[in-house]
Amino acid sequence: MQKIYIASIFLIGLFLTACQQGDPNTNIDEKEQTTQQEQQADQSVPKKETAKTEEQDNASDGSNDNESAKADDSTNEEDKQKEIDKHIAKVEKSTGLHVVDNPESPEVYVNKQRTLPEGYVPPNLVVPDVSHYSSEGSPKRQLQKVAADALEQLFAEADQQGIGLVAVSGYRSYERQKQIYESAVANKGQEHADKFSARPGTSEHQTGLAMDVASATETAATLLEQSFKQTDAGAWLAENAHNFGFIIRYPEGKNEITGYNYEPWHIRYVGKEIATEIYNKDITLEEYFGYDY
Ligand code: DAL
Ligand code: ZN
Repeated sequence: MQKIYIASIFLIGLFLTACQQGDPNTNIDEKEQTTQQEQQADQSVPKKETAKTEEQDNASDGSNDNESAKADDSTNEEDKQKEIDKHIAKVEKSTGLHVVDNPESPEVYVNKQRTLPEGYVPPNLVVPDVSHYSSEGSPKRQLQKVAADALEQLFAEADQQGIGLVAVSGYRSYERQKQIYESAVANKGQEHADKFSARPGTSEHQTGLAMDVASATETAATLLEQSFKQTDAGAWLAENAHNFGFIIRYPEGKNEITGYNYEPWHIRYVGKEIATEIYNKDITLEEYFGYDY
């Protein structure tokens, strides 16, 4: 009986020992589970972050799209504005010239690529009250009113400073410019003519905003000659015309840009602001506008 009791105690002892050994297994499972959870947790963080990053990327991609769309829009708007600023109504099929849409404006810009509309005549031509070289009643005496007023002020100031100027040639009709150009071509050949005479429709004289000016005291010797620049009148004009809204339209050394040889006598009304900027920067009207046509 005592043996049975001892054997029972032994068996119970064995059983309890077996149970205690099960705990570590349970702990290992828990550890493994914990480790797996931690690993999952560890993995879930970057996943979330990745997801977040993707969302952010998507969001930022989206906003980039919006931004580039906006940029495209604004570029288009800028391009449109640039085209509007060029003041071109159409391109003439027969010549490829760009026809300006603002012929009456003091800011009208014509040159070898840009022409006045067919049949254009300025609506407000008047004869400025200055000394003229042409005979009374000549259409050459005329300018658009705004330019005529400015020329009167310029001549008055020159006179005040002891400089004698004379107005030689202002407004020219399309037909008159055609005669002058064709005569130049007949006498000098087209290549040479194109350096000093505008083809009809492209002359600033047709706008009524340009006047050829000479020295009143050295008229015969320097009339429409580059030597005009060496006269007191020519030198004064070059330094003062901008104060009255005029520019020397075809400056020295800029023939590659303007398309015309130096004409120290040809002044063009553009208004004081533009004239002063062009004078200060020593640029041409082509450079001022900066258009490709
Ligand atoms: N002499 C200038 C270029 C004209 O003919 O208009
Ligand atoms: Zn001229």
